[in-house]
Amino acid sequence: MNVITVKNDQAVGEKVGSLFVEAVAKNPNIILGLATGSSPISTYQNIIKTSKDKNIDWTNVKTFNLDEYKGLEPTHKKSYRYFMNENLFDHININKENTHVPSGAITSNEEAAKYDAAIAAAGGIDIQLLGLGINGHVGFNEPGTSFDSITSIVDLTESTIEANSRFFQSKDEVPTQAISMGLKSIMNAKKVILIAMGKNKAEAVKHLVEGPVSTEWPCTTLLNHNDVTVVIDEEAASLLTK
Ligand code: GLP
Repeated sequence: MNVITVKNDQAVGEKVGSLFVEAVAKNPNIILGLATGSSPISTYQNIIKTSKDKNIDWTNVKTFNLDEYKGLEPTHKKSYRYFMNENLFDHININKENTHVPSGAITSNEEAAKYDAAIAAAGGIDIQLLGLGINGHVGFNEPGTSFDSITSIVDLTESTIEANSRFFQSKDEVPTQAISMGLKSIMNAKKVILIAMGKNKAEAVKHLVEGPVSTEWPCTTLLNHNDVTVVIDEEAASLLTK
């Protein structure tokens, strides 16, 4: 695991943004796994700016997002599809048909599993971007999730609902379920880049980097992946012993 500690959010965005832009410039047919939440925003801003400055062509890039709230329509302002359009897709020359976010209308795990099939049919994810939950979740794979999980309908924990309520008017509006790529789906990516910022992520970062591997901290499955880069700010790195 390659751990890169930088000063702040802006520096995380510059570092991770440049990794993505360089990857697209090198392989215009690349398949990217993307994430939502506050952590990737500076990365997306950096991607938008650098893509304009350097004329990066996103026409043939395909993307697959990690997750979506169950029951939210793509046009719902708090849906992850809406987030992706607003924060990235509307500002680069990507083909919207090449962008995939699990549908919030999915009602069965058979339907959800088709997402993994679509990723495999596209050739598999080359680089997967991840944020990190305070409780160590990746995607919406909460503590206790099997490392063998594939895309499915998942329940959100009380702490995740609480943490994500900042994006909604009130806690009651936060959906209690989501459709999320599983831990196995994530581990299938050829390369993983995880972002974490702020003091409240420090404990999860310590588990992620120092182990032990345990389903209690879903992110620790990444210790079994051979190409993971973790980009964190100084606060998120504050509990690391090395
Ligand atoms: C959410 C998302 C995750 C995200 C995490 C952290 O619940 N499903 O994909 O990584 O929480 O979010 P943030 O970056 O806003 O702290």
